[in-house]
Amino acid sequence: MNNLIVLGAQWGDEGKGKLVDLLSDRFDVVVRYQGGHNAGHTILIGERKFVLKLIPSGILHPGKSAVIGNGLVVDPIALVTEIDALEAAGADVSSQLRISNRAHVLLPFHRMMERLSEARPGRVSIGTTSRGIGPCYEDKMGRRGIRFGDFVRFTHFDQAYDALRAEKIALLNAFGLFDGLNDRAERERYRQIAERLRPLVCDTAALLNQEIRAGKRVLFEGAQGTMLDVDHGTYPFVTSSSSTAGGACIGSGVPPNKISGVVGICKAYITRVGGGPFPTELHDDVGEHIRKRGKEFGAVTGRPRRCGWFDVPLLRYSAMINGIDSLVITKLDVLDELQEIPVCVGYRLNGEAVENMPASSEDLDKVQPVFESLPGWNSSTFGISEYDELPLKAREYLDCLEKMTGVEVGCISTGPERTQTIIRKGSRFEQLLGA
Ligand code: GDP
Ligand code: IMO
Ligand code: MG
Repeated sequence: MNNLIVLGAQWGDEGKGKLVDLLSDRFDVVVRYQGGHNAGHTILIGERKFVLKLIPSGILHPGKSAVIGNGLVVDPIALVTEIDALEAAGADVSSQLRISNRAHVLLPFHRMMERLSEARPGRVSIGTTSRGIGPCYEDKMGRRGIRFGDFVRFTHFDQAYDALRAEKIALLNAFGLFDGLNDRAERERYRQIAERLRPLVCDTAALLNQEIRAGKRVLFEGAQGTMLDVDHGTYPFVTSSSSTAGGACIGSGVPPNKISGVVGICKAYITRVGGGPFPTELHDDVGEHIRKRGKEFGAVTGRPRRCGWFDVPLLRYSAMINGIDSLVITKLDVLDELQEIPVCVGYRLNGEAVENMPASSEDLDKVQPVFESLPGWNSSTFGISEYDELPLKAREYLDCLEKMTGVEVGCISTGPERTQTIIRKGSRFEQLLGA
């Protein structure tokens, strides 16, 4: 049994797409288990760039199965747009992709409802991706959502759609935010999409468990990151799904005893998009330098990402919540030109050392990060694929992260392409890949 979870250990955009694409070769099935098209997973293959939002990053490997699990909220229009782009690029989507009949359907009024919660006076703005993710999960938990199995059957779609729509319009009108919903033409579009997607929709929990019984290997692709998890993240500045390791079981229907390990992806520094506390955030030229060198602009919304120094307390917390066996440190090359690299080794609040990650965003907003400064290496690591070829000071930086987080650094990424990766020999990471 060698089924592996790969997830974001920080606030998302750690390079999950690159890693999952790279590792897909060694697995038979790649499954997404939460989130929706708020995710943007970038894969660079030579001159070709793909930004996958809903479809697992394994799809670019011919013959590999890609599964959209029950834990996702799926906008059918965004999905077919993505399928069209992948088919144009030569992927055999209809034979590779399967969609859970238990995944939820995200509809236009979910986006409208998001404006209600984001733009209304007196509400805390989260700085969401404006895709309607939160409102769609609200309908799921409120037990009034529409699931894919029912959507593609289409027999009761109009009824279910009307019931949901009426409720939303009443709410939007009450706050004076309803500005019309042009959904007549869209319904016919949904009928056509339902017909097109019908052959891809099935009981993916049954499928995954059957594949595992047959000795196939499954890779679980997380979206967002640990600190955006609805329970364990920096609430309320989080997304509306379980992006931590536990979410993989809930969102796929594969039990925990069928999963052999968890790999946490993190940058050699840290970024965040949207609002919320960020103890190590940089507001100076160095932050700007990292943003430029790291091309830190949202893959979905284009928003500039907030940049900061590597945060050890956050990573230790993330390792605890997820049970991370091995870390992948990405974007090491982005730090190549720095003279010194501060690392946050602890938090202090009201003069006291902070033991556990504060549950209150208000407290996390107030913590004082304690920094230790490490020397930079001042030479290029871009594209290096052998550990021994890294400059000594870069290796020392990685050693330090390993020691302070208490988790091995099993893999290092030195550029956006598949080949620009170091897998450490003899590591737990290598073991988990079954190499
Ligand atoms: P994801 O959401 O976790 O898949 O990450 P994103 O795709 O949103 O953001 C990561 C960005 O960093 C993408 O543009 C990747 O192509 C790029 N990237 C990934 N790994 C590396 C790396 O090691 N070095 C550099 N310079 N870029 C990287
Ligand atoms: P990937 O998978 C980074 C952030 C949004 C916002 C908060 C809630 O590419 O790493 P939502 O639209 O989900 O309700 O927004 O979560 N967010 C992400 N940040 N990477 C992502 O995905 C994100 N998906 C959502 O910016 O702060
Ligand atoms: Mg992303």
